[in-house]
Amino acid sequence: MKQFNEIDYTNIGAKRVGIGVLGYGFMGKVHSNAYLKMPYTYTDPPAHPVLIAMCGRDAGKVKDSAMRFGYKGYYTDWQHLVEDPRIDIFDNCANDYLHFEPTLAAIKAGKHVVCEKPLAKTVKEAKQLVKAAGEAGVKHMTCFNYRFLPAVRLAKDIIERGRIGTIYQFRGRYLQHSGHNPDEMLENVKYATVKGSGIMLGLGSHVIDMARFLIGDIKSVCGLSKTFVKTRKTMSGKNHHVEVDEANVAVVEFENEAIGTIESSGVSTGHKNQNTWEINGSKGSLMFDLEDLNHLYVYLEDEQNEDVRGFTKISVTEPSHPNPCLILPRGHNAGWEYGHVHALSHFVNCVLNDLPVAPYGATFEDGYRVQVIMERLKESSETGRRIQLTF
Ligand SMILES: NC(=O)c1ccc[n+]([C@@H]2O[C@H](COP(=O)([O-])OP(=O)(O)OC[C@H]3O[C@@H](n4cnc5c(N)ncnc54)[C@H](O)[C@@H]3O)[C@@H](O)[C@H]2O)c1
Repeated sequence: MKQFNEIDYTNIGAKRVGIGVLGYGFMGKVHSNAYLKMPYTYTDPPAHPVLIAMCGRDAGKVKDSAMRFGYKGYYTDWQHLVEDPRIDIFDNCANDYLHFEPTLAAIKAGKHVVCEKPLAKTVKEAKQLVKAAGEAGVKHMTCFNYRFLPAVRLAKDIIERGRIGTIYQFRGRYLQHSGHNPDEMLENVKYATVKGSGIMLGLGSHVIDMARFLIGDIKSVCGLSKTFVKTRKTMSGKNHHVEVDEANVAVVEFENEAIGTIESSGVSTGHKNQNTWEINGSKGSLMFDLEDLNHLYVYLEDEQNEDVRGFTKISVTEPSHPNPCLILPRGHNAGWEYGHVHALSHFVNCVLNDLPVAPYGATFEDGYRVQVIMERLKESSETGRRIQLTF
């Protein structure tokens, strides 16, 4: 004990930020993990997040989660979470149907707000959130975490420096297979339940955001959506009529004249979580696959000698790469959860240092634009027409 030097944590008081998370499910846990990892992922962390409270309806379960992550306490009513004065950042990790009301209430209570994707269930709701956050002057971010993966950020930098030239095409798809078996019980096909909101909102939203992030705004869309399994049995033996889409294909045209295809599916047999994209430009191409997230495949015609020219697999783990994970030496791969660590760290940094969330973070305006694109794609599928977008 003689050599024990006690650390005075009061010195970092100014860099503390209070966190309140709604939901203790998949995302509630992933966001909590991200806040906890921040102080040791970066040598100069933007802040020491203080986990104030988690919220969920089941007292036993939310208490269990809150204790495991080290929250000071928990609530079973989200209104109380929103009102807690110790909370600086309200982080909405609830199901899609509960994004709008609590996020709006948090904005009105003066909190900075993070909301999981999709920002809302409808364009009308998303627009209201953009307006309210703007008027309140709070920081806001739609949690499109994949923007923050080092390989994705490197791709953005390569594109912005003109290294792949004029962009011609984007090809993006997000494929899962929880619904491929028509005999699968409803409860195991989350997107099809009454709480689920279909594949476009669940997975398609990620690809649309990625397309906008890397290529730019979209000006027209043409889509086709399908529900293959229209009735599913519940575990209690009832028949459930599936109201939502299960697979989508879309053709899009960007403001910069590039064209793209966007696919999302919950019935792609064999695919557990494949989120891939490819971009072709006049001088090069880029490819990414979320199931191999530490690598970016790069083809740069002007920068490679002809005899060795081809797609090069880059391990995006150098300290000089964007969003380096400093506790891991080069070549030591980071996991899926680091998208959220970097995204939420960026947001905390923006809050503490009054920095803009855009262009790397998706603001509520970005969330709203993705929502508009999804609604127009649905309309296009119903009418069979290609639609010009207005925001
Ligand atoms: N960014 C990503 O990679 C990613 C991945 C998965 C899900 N999501 C999104 O995150 C959100 C949550 O998804 P999930 O998979 O964590 O869902 P989940 O079902 O695992 O968790 C949802 C949580 O919300 C809570 N909740 C629901 N209604 C509530 C109420 N009235 N009061 C208090 N709490 C309530 C539930 O108790 C649960 O804790 C969804 O919007 C989803 O689209 C994002």
